[in-house]
Amino acid sequence: MDLYEYQARDMFESHGVPVLAGIVAYTPEEAKAAAEKIGGVVVVKAQVKVGGRGKAGGVKVAKTADEAFEYATNILGMDIKGHTVNKVMIAQGADIAEEFYFSVLLDRANRNYLAMCSVEGGMEIEELAVERPEALARIAVDPAVGIDQAKADEIVAAAGFAPELTAQVASAILKLWDVFKKEDATLVEVNPLVLTGGGDIVALDGKVTLDDSASEIRHPHHEELDDKENTDPLEAKAAAAGLNYVKLDGEVGVIGNGAGLVMSTLDVVAYAGENHGNVKPANFLDIGGGASAEVMASGLDVILNDPQVKSVFVNVFGGITACDAVANGIVGALNTLGDAANKPLVVRLDGNNVEEGRRILAAANHPLVTLAATMDEGADKAAELANSAK
Ligand SMILES: Nc1ncnc2c1ncn2[C@@H]1O[C@H](COP(=O)(O)OP(=O)(O)OP(=O)(O)O)[C@@H](O)[C@H]1O
Ligand SMILES: [Mg+2]
Repeated sequence: MDLYEYQARDMFESHGVPVLAGIVAYTPEEAKAAAEKIGGVVVVKAQVKVGGRGKAGGVKVAKTADEAFEYATNILGMDIKGHTVNKVMIAQGADIAEEFYFSVLLDRANRNYLAMCSVEGGMEIEELAVERPEALARIAVDPAVGIDQAKADEIVAAAGFAPELTAQVASAILKLWDVFKKEDATLVEVNPLVLTGGGDIVALDGKVTLDDSASEIRHPHHEELDDKENTDPLEAKAAAAGLNYVKLDGEVGVIGNGAGLVMSTLDVVAYAGENHGNVKPANFLDIGGGASAEVMASGLDVILNDPQVKSVFVNVFGGITACDAVANGIVGALNTLGDAANKPLVVRLDGNNVEEGRRILAAANHPLVTLAATMDEGADKAAELANSAK
């Protein structure tokens, strides 16, 4: 999960990283009130989970609370690289003397952590990394040791900080490592880390990515950081039902059991779609091992509520949950859904107890259900039905 800047700021603060005051605002009125509360010069900053906000006009310095109101009016609703801004952070204005860069991240390729640091921070770090890589120090961090004082000193020395700044910067880096480690992050990035006119080192911008695998058990409070208002409503519904669902762009809804089978079903549907008006899979949905009527019903419910879906392909391989149980699941799901089940379903069953499964479906004789003998045949039929309903 990626955090918004204001969430990263709050997390930094709770771990002792030096930050300036920052208050999130959803309306120009709230922005004005926040600016009055902070006092003096403030910066109105678009809160979107994408980089390059400053360049896109989403970061503006406001000298008065009225100006903060005005900038918030302009920035709220703005589109930044496909992300609509629906909140801003009112940040205390910093008197910036110099801008630096620091990040620490999970380096999957090297099975390690990597710290990066530069005395040339600011908005163009990606360009700096490409054009003058020598200006960006890259220091490997052993996960078993982490960033201790010696490692922090090494990072600061490699980046080439002026001697009078090294102790302060190293101390900020140790605190940022605390955030990374204690919150189970996979990325902590500060750009810019600044030196103020008063001689303080402050994190002015923060990006944090949390490791979702660590959230449920180790950090139950991370759940509150998830911003439900921006999740796709179908994905939210699927998540609430405990389903593994990803919305895609096509017309053929797909349900299968096991991630591998569902992935290959997506391929086969896309391939079949080439012969049927280029229809494509509408989603990934893995209902997992126990394909019970209940799980099947909540899966179908999510897919049938996607207005883009014109047909559904259920592709199940009976294993521990045998095909007869799956077939009963489908019949039960269609009964549960009643009139809400209103799009054609192509079902392909194979594996454990397949004959009985097919017999149950044939006996139910549901007007929307077509049985397919193979995966290719099922995909072709589902694509054909989706195309003719387009
Ligand atoms: N609180 C602040 N006070 C003064 N100047 C600021 C403040 N916050 C940001 N700035 C200035 O605005 C620039 C851009 O801000 P910031 O780094 O937050 O956004 P960005 O880099 O455009 O966004 P992103 O990091 O998402 O690409 C900073 O480099 C800094 O010069
Ligand atoms: Mg930045």
